[in-house]
Amino acid sequence: MDAEIWWSAVDAPMTVTPGSQPRIAATRVLDAVLHHGRSLKAELTSAQQGLDDPRDRALVEAICLAVLRQPARFDAALAAWMPRPLARRDRELRALLLVGFAQLDPMGLPAHAAVAATVEAARGLGRDHQAGMVNALLRRALREGLPALESHAHWPAWLCSRIEGDWPAEAESILTASEQAPPMWLRVNRQQGNREAYRAELTAVGIEGVLVDGLDDALRLDAPVPVAGLPGFAEGRVSVQDGAAQRVVDAMAVDGGMRVLDACAAPGGKAAHLLERESSLDLTALDIDRRRLRQVQTTFDRLGLGADARLLAADATDLAAWWDGVPFDAIVLDAPCSATGIIRRQPDVLLHRRESDIDNLVALQGRLLDALWQTLAPGGSLVYTTCSILRDENDRQIAAFLARTSDSQGEALEEGFGRAPENETHGRQRLPGEDGMDGFFYARLRKAPASVSGE
Ligand SMILES: C[S@@+](CC[C@H](N)C(=O)[O-])C[C@H]1O[C@@H](n2cnc3c(N)ncnc32)[C@H](O)[C@@H]1O
Repeated sequence: MDAEIWWSAVDAPMTVTPGSQPRIAATRVLDAVLHHGRSLKAELTSAQQGLDDPRDRALVEAICLAVLRQPARFDAALAAWMPRPLARRDRELRALLLVGFAQLDPMGLPAHAAVAATVEAARGLGRDHQAGMVNALLRRALREGLPALESHAHWPAWLCSRIEGDWPAEAESILTASEQAPPMWLRVNRQQGNREAYRAELTAVGIEGVLVDGLDDALRLDAPVPVAGLPGFAEGRVSVQDGAAQRVVDAMAVDGGMRVLDACAAPGGKAAHLLERESSLDLTALDIDRRRLRQVQTTFDRLGLGADARLLAADATDLAAWWDGVPFDAIVLDAPCSATGIIRRQPDVLLHRRESDIDNLVALQGRLLDALWQTLAPGGSLVYTTCSILRDENDRQIAAFLARTSDSQGEALEEGFGRAPENETHGRQRLPGEDGMDGFFYARLRKAPASVSGE
């Protein structure tokens, strides 16, 4: 389409078309996250509920993530191309322009359709008077290209220095990997099939899945698809879960009939994986957040699991509130953490996380370890895991626990779990992007058998 005709077409009065709806929704989500301190996940969930088409829901998510992974690039373009900085009342306009830029690069959507839909979104947002400016800026981005990636300018200084302190040789690659779109990882429900058969089903509908050694239930999709397009998703044959999170169950090595506690269970990804592996587990799924705990039930219902599982809403450190005194054979503590290993999936961590949060989290993780250890049977094991890359939350946390807990011992995990930061009995660390996975930490702690601890 010729530029002038296209211009007059978008300039003519028209009603909001479906193409503009996801751009409007993405703008509102980003305005709330960037300018009003809201959580990306919560805002996305509510925005997606207002969209009927699963492709629109997927597009909103993809746009928001693409913006939040590299906002400094887009702001650099605005600073260079606008005569003066946007006023405070125009923060929504900033969000819309970022939505427009991200569609061009890195998303690479068909340019004219993306520009037209974004200009129309300006009208849908009641910004008719700014639609021409949006059009001009996006067309300039098309002509000149957006600036190259700024040097991680949107990262808080305190977090950069912590990462450099903990991972001097890897810091740059950690930041870069955290700004890239991750692959999509699927977990095939063993109770209903296996990954080889599911991969063939994917191939039949034109989706390419990659089998990865050492991840027995996983398929990696290098080109993510909306979950609604996955065969059997609603029937519970498959879930979306990063490869690194899938390794937690391998670290546990549970057997049928064991009494197992998932101490921080919501929304239920690892609890469900445990039951997919061993449906006869006697499982207790605990979480302090009653609303999030309901998601565990929803997860179990979709996957056809957990009919006998106990779901408890309580603070895991308050044993009197929830523990019946019968020890567990195995515990998984997927601890609340800084989420610094999954910034590529939750880029708003960079906006919302404060340095003071880290000390509070480290203290809470220590209290959870101490309390849960009392509920572990002699000879039993506790797997401690986080999606953090900060050593205070990970290997140093475990080293401190082992030092103050006389009946505890760290067990070596194999290399497939990641690098050994210091001493392999203090756990294994995977950094973001390594083997296509999220940043994750794993440690397995064994309680001395009764005869030894009783001596
Ligand atoms: C990393 S998430 C768990 C993810 C979950 N294991 C999964 O795989 O889906 C951490 C969870 O810890 C819960 N939590 C935080 N403090 C807690 C406490 N004191 N007791 C129990 N749960 C807690 C949070 O509500 C949150 O759901």
